Amino acid sequence: MHVERKLTLTAALSLVGVVKAAATPLVSSFGQTAVIPSWDLQSSAKVGNNLESLSKTGVDTSSWYHVGKSKCTLMGCLVETGVYNETDLFYSENLQNVDETQFSVPWTYRNEFTLEPAPGEHFHLQTHGISSRADIFLNGKQVVNKSVQAGSYAGKSYKITNLVGDSNALVIQVQPTNYYYDFALGWVDWNPWPADNGTGVWRDVEIKQTGAVALGPLRIVTKIGSTYDKLSDPATVTLKVMARNFENRTVTITAAGTIAPLSEADIPRITFNRTITLPPFSVYNVVLETVVGKPAIWWPKQWGNQPLYTATLSVFADDKLSDAVSGNFGFRSVTSKPNSYNDTTFIVNGVPFQVIGAGYTPNMFLRWDATKWESELQYTLDLGFNTIRLEGKNEHPEAYDIADRLGIFLMVGWECCDKWEAWSYNQDLAVPTPVWSDQDYVIAGDSMRHEASMLQTHPSVLTYLIGSDYWTDDRATPIYLNALKASDWQTPIIGSASKRGFSPLTGPSGLKMEGPYDWVPPNYWYDTNEKGNYANRFGAAFGFGSELGAGVGTPELSSLKKFLSSSDLEDLWKAPNKALYHMSRAGSEFTTRKIYNDGLWKRWGAPTSLDDYLMKSQLTDYEATRAQFEAFATNWNAKRQATGLIYWMLNNAWPSLHWNVWDYYMKPAGSYFGAKVGSRKEHVTYNYVTKEVWYLDRTIDATARDRRVEIDALDSQGKVMFSSVVNLAAYPQTSRRVTSLNTAYTLGNIKDAAFLRLVLRAGTTKDGKVLSRNVYWVSKDLDVLDWDRSEWYVTPVRTYANYTALNILPAADVVTQVVKGQNEEVVVNLENKSKVPAFFVMLNLVGKDGKDVLPLTWDDNYVTLWPGEKLNLTARAVGKGKWEPAAVQVVGKNVGRKSVTLG
Ligand SMILES: *[C@@H]1O[C@H](CO)[C@@H](O)[C@H](O)[C@H]1NC(C)=O
Ligand SMILES: *[C@@H]1O[C@H](CO)[C@@H](O)[C@H](O)[C@H]1NC(C)=O
Ligand SMILES: *[C@@H]1O[C@H](CO)[C@@H](O)[C@H](O)[C@H]1NC(C)=O
Ligand SMILES: *[C@@H]1O[C@H](CO)[C@@H](O)[C@H](O)[C@H]1NC(C)=O
Ligand SMILES: *[C@@H]1O[C@H](CO)[C@@H](O)[C@H](O)[C@H]1NC(C)=O
Ligand SMILES: *[C@@H]1O[C@H](CO)[C@@H](O)[C@H](O)[C@H]1NC(C)=O
Ligand SMILES: *[C@@H]1O[C@H](CO)[C@@H](O)[C@H](O)[C@H]1NC(C)=O
Ligand SMILES: *[C@@H]1O[C@H](CO)[C@@H](O)[C@H](O)[C@H]1NC(C)=O
Repeated sequence: MHVERKLTLTAALSLVGVVKAAATPLVSSFGQTAVIPSWDLQSSAKVGNNLESLSKTGVDTSSWYHVGKSKCTLMGCLVETGVYNETDLFYSENLQNVDETQFSVPWTYRNEFTLEPAPGEHFHLQTHGISSRADIFLNGKQVVNKSVQAGSYAGKSYKITNLVGDSNALVIQVQPTNYYYDFALGWVDWNPWPADNGTGVWRDVEIKQTGAVALGPLRIVTKIGSTYDKLSDPATVTLKVMARNFENRTVTITAAGTIAPLSEADIPRITFNRTITLPPFSVYNVVLETVVGKPAIWWPKQWGNQPLYTATLSVFADDKLSDAVSGNFGFRSVTSKPNSYNDTTFIVNGVPFQVIGAGYTPNMFLRWDATKWESELQYTLDLGFNTIRLEGKNEHPEAYDIADRLGIFLMVGWECCDKWEAWSYNQDLAVPTPVWSDQDYVIAGDSMRHEASMLQTHPSVLTYLIGSDYWTDDRATPIYLNALKASDWQTPIIGSASKRGFSPLTGPSGLKMEGPYDWVPPNYWYDTNEKGNYANRFGAAFGFGSELGAGVGTPELSSLKKFLSSSDLEDLWKAPNKALYHMSRAGSEFTTRKIYNDGLWKRWGAPTSLDDYLMKSQLTDYEATRAQFEAFATNWNAKRQATGLIYWMLNNAWPSLHWNVWDYYMKPAGSYFGAKVGSRKEHVTYNYVTKEVWYLDRTIDATARDRRVEIDALDSQGKVMFSSVVNLAAYPQTSRRVTSLNTAYTLGNIKDAAFLRLVLRAGTTKDGKVLSRNVYWVSKDLDVLDWDRSEWYVTPVRTYANYTALNILPAADVVTQVVKGQNEEVVVNLENKSKVPAFFVMLNLVGKDGKDVLPLTWDDNYVTLWPGEKLNLTARAVGKGKWEPAAVQVVGKNVGRKSVTLG
């Protein structure tokens, strides 16, 4: 209908109008929702601020940027459209050259689409959060202003029935984001801040068509048996939704619910309905309940399967569908309780659940990539983790669908260190941050309502942390809690991720945030005071650590070369105290590798080359993550239990030199394999402080069974020190001491350094299946921590361990054969032909071009082989990427670098 009018414009413009009007309507039936699929984008410095005219159809946008994506921040869009090249931006210090001033003015997103409006049809515009404030115009009229559409998470639905036509032009003008004034997605010290501060349409914008009655988000409430043995009892499922009558007449609706299994077809489809009468313009909370006789229970992958169901609630008015909403869900229960130390324990399906995971970050330009996320979750499972913490980086609905399917818990919550925590009592805020205004409390409430309804149905959501470093104030707390309650929130709500204080409405969080974030030696996690307890031991392995780690995660050379210049690479090992751009953000405590390098230099000797530095770094990283994960897992049964661990961090927002389990390019290195060994479900560990060997089991599906632990040690020359075997009866969900090695005949009297190998076998005989194989390097003396001089980010070391004897190990000869395994697998047969251990042998799969084959998993890597020992290690493809392996590169601390082609 606008075509006619547009024909009066220039020929070129009218052509655009005609073509667009002829296109398929974005939505054409009741209950249909469509995402605005692409955007034209331009700065207000170029196109001005007349949104009324920019939002009329037929505007010539040929000089604008055209993005074929439904969502991207300004920087994300400019990368998509080729204005910036991410590879180049991330190289060396190039990122500093992006002109920030271009983002100090508003920018405009624009799209034209067609509809077929007719009487009785209703249209709605749905946002899911725009950074950070936006004026929205449609067909020359304002839909909403920037005081109302404010906050990166404040998604809303606007009625646009009166504004739509056959041809439509939508304009969203976004305002510059300031992390201290706006509710955005900030970065603290992890990486440089993006030049646009994440401004833009970072989440989808949708158009929905309905009849007279439209529905809000579907809430699905499940009730299952409250204890482990009652899980097969009948479950109730309640579907709830707010139905709004958009017409000035009484409408009688039938609300019909359907529940069907999504993945396991073991229950019949269930349907149920009821009739409701809605007065003019009224809102009604529709509630439909049913019983599922034998619910299939959703478990985290660690403990079982992930059966999912889908629920749909449809409303029929005037004998036809008016609207429908649906969501996937699973039957599972999560509760939490503080123990006698006020440390939080989560309970999943009636079983106490130790959280093992790490802190996630999106790409720094918020470039969401579902395939990458799925690979990241596959890595998470491969590591033996069960949880990921998202601190104010709640991503998109798809993220939760994938986590539901893969069986990984997500700890979702708000972020620290900026507007989100601008409380009068927050000691750590940057100076200008104003405390919340009345309007800010409204934005916070809108944000919570939106996120709660996005998350509510997903079994993968473990908890919502309404605070991070600080607890929420007395006005915000009930706003958040009421919003969660209104969404029928079903899992624990935690007040903050720290123990700094709490609102009486939430009670103590039971999560600690006391560091470390920088390098500490492996015995840190086990260190107790003279009385044998953890008083003033901050991050050590007790309680629930919400973000802590030894600050490791050094990428290997193949990754480093992608983002460091040759002089940057030299700095790594020649300038150990220098501030490096790819460490943390300028001004933070973590701009240098000084604390880490002090340890590396003192414990391993000054590096003699970049290769030597990286080898010593990988040893340091592996040792650090393994000790942390093992200490927490081992202390699951301790008097003061270790109830959870969120390692800081899982991944990086850009190519970073630290704080990850795998690097930006998804290459797993030392920190990955240390974490992986340390997170095995059934495992044997060594406590550096007590010199004890421990057994641990994180499964629930087993009963008592026999296990054999083989303990062997070699001295720094490779000579046998001792060899022993302990048989034990193993029980699920336990950890127990196996034996002490603190005797003169064992590790009580090391000359300089020693190797310790622990092998766990099924059964009691030496040919039992190997369940865990774990090799340590142990120094004569431990690192000594100076607990009294602890800072929030580190506990310094007073005297260092000495591993230098291991630098002069004779070279080992490792015979390697690389064969193709089944499907997308490569098997490497290793054999140590020498009389000395082959220390810390790293395998790297490369293609014909010599480049890393990624993403992939190795069942084990960075392994140490005893003289004569054989090991087969398997690499497997992750995801559906290109899998064209050609060779395996092999190198070890005392094993020369070589490349073995696939035979
Ligand atoms: C970015 O630049 C790199 C080289 O600097 C090039 O290999 C790559 O193809 C470019 N990416 C895009 C999307 O153009
Ligand atoms: C924005 O819209 C709201 C609601 O319509 C209105 O109350 C407010 O005055 C508007 N603000 C501005 C600055 O126009
Ligand atoms: C980004 O936020 C920071 C701090 O909140 C502010 O200083 C800076 O000016 C902002 N940048 C832009 C482009 O708005
Ligand atoms: C609804 O209908 C009533 C009765 O016809 C009328 O008085 C009222 O103005 C209408 N309201 C609106 C918002 O159209
Ligand atoms: C409502 O339930 C009744 C009884 O099961 C059934 O006959 C009817 O078709 C259902 N209506 C809808 C709209 O699903
Ligand atoms: C646990 O928290 C409660 C407040 O809810 C407090 O009264 C109690 O002293 C705390 N216990 C310990 C061991 O800190
Ligand atoms: C470290 O150990 C080596 C060899 O075992 C020894 O020569 C050296 O003196 C030790 N260094 C320190 C600082 O004790
Ligand atoms: C390793 O693999 C080879 C064949 O590739 C096989 O002969 C050998 O038995 C395997 N060794 C172990 C310990 O699994």
